[in-house]
Amino acid sequence: MIEFNKVTKNIGAEVTGIDLSKPLDEEQVEVVRKGLLEHLVLFFREQDITDEQHQAFALNFGTLDIPAMNKNGGAIHVLDQTDPKGEGGDQWHSDNTFMKIPPMGSLLRAVMLPEVGGDTNWANMYMAYDSLAPGIQRLCDELYAEHDLTMSISKAVDKGHKFDLREMQEKNPPSIHPVVRVHPETGRKALYVNRSSVTRLIGLSRRENEALLPLLFDAVRDPQFQVRLKWRVGTLAFWDNRPTQHYAVADYTQRRKMHRVTITAPVEIDNGVPTGPNGVTGADAPAEAAAARYL
Ligand code: OGA
Ligand code: MN
Repeated sequence: MIEFNKVTKNIGAEVTGIDLSKPLDEEQVEVVRKGLLEHLVLFFREQDITDEQHQAFALNFGTLDIPAMNKNGGAIHVLDQTDPKGEGGDQWHSDNTFMKIPPMGSLLRAVMLPEVGGDTNWANMYMAYDSLAPGIQRLCDELYAEHDLTMSISKAVDKGHKFDLREMQEKNPPSIHPVVRVHPETGRKALYVNRSSVTRLIGLSRRENEALLPLLFDAVRDPQFQVRLKWRVGTLAFWDNRPTQHYAVADYTQRRKMHRVTITAPVEIDNGVPTGPNGVTGADAPAEAAAARYL
């Protein structure tokens, strides 16, 4: 029987009674899906699985994305790091929010780990939203933000990774999303801005941006909203990318190798376009006023 054991009060559960090397039946898939909605990130321990089994498990919950950074064109994204500082993961973020349809979820598996360090944190962004004063929540409910991959990629380029920044920007133009995202399955509001990719709030002046953005970015920092995972080889973490952010602690110098797939939800459950209160999407943002006021 599948069981969920909470790791903290507010986010994260370890899942037992499931073997990810075997196909799941419909009932098991439904139990895991509900568990994910409730706990936001699920940890599966001692799963000695192949990339194929990893992908097969992910396919129960959506279609596989081909990541923009993936040079080999496959769905498995390999993170192989020994010097992780400033490589992108060590900043609170939600995956690929520069996309018009960011991934619904990510499944990350530890293949090789340093002796110590390299933990990952996740934060509950429903709670980050709930923690704001009602007046600030109302303000956020009406705002839009621009998400751009340039900031995170240019950091990686600075560190010597070979990306053609201009080409990546052309292929992946910025997207505008509501600052508050209503989760299509739970109906709850989550704060949907992250320091790794948000460049500005639309329609606000530069000074207004400078005052408000740090406040919103830093709502993620309260440890009450967070869970920290100590990986073991064979641990797989599956998170709902819509109401969470995560942070990879860059405190190691030995090799750490992780395999990840990201998934897009089935359209009948979620069309994938981040949607705010009253059903607005980035397309409803006041784009022209924004450009003028930003200068
Ligand atoms: C990711 C990510 C965190 C980690 O795969 O999206 O941010 O701990 N990884 O490697
Ligand atoms: Mn990530």
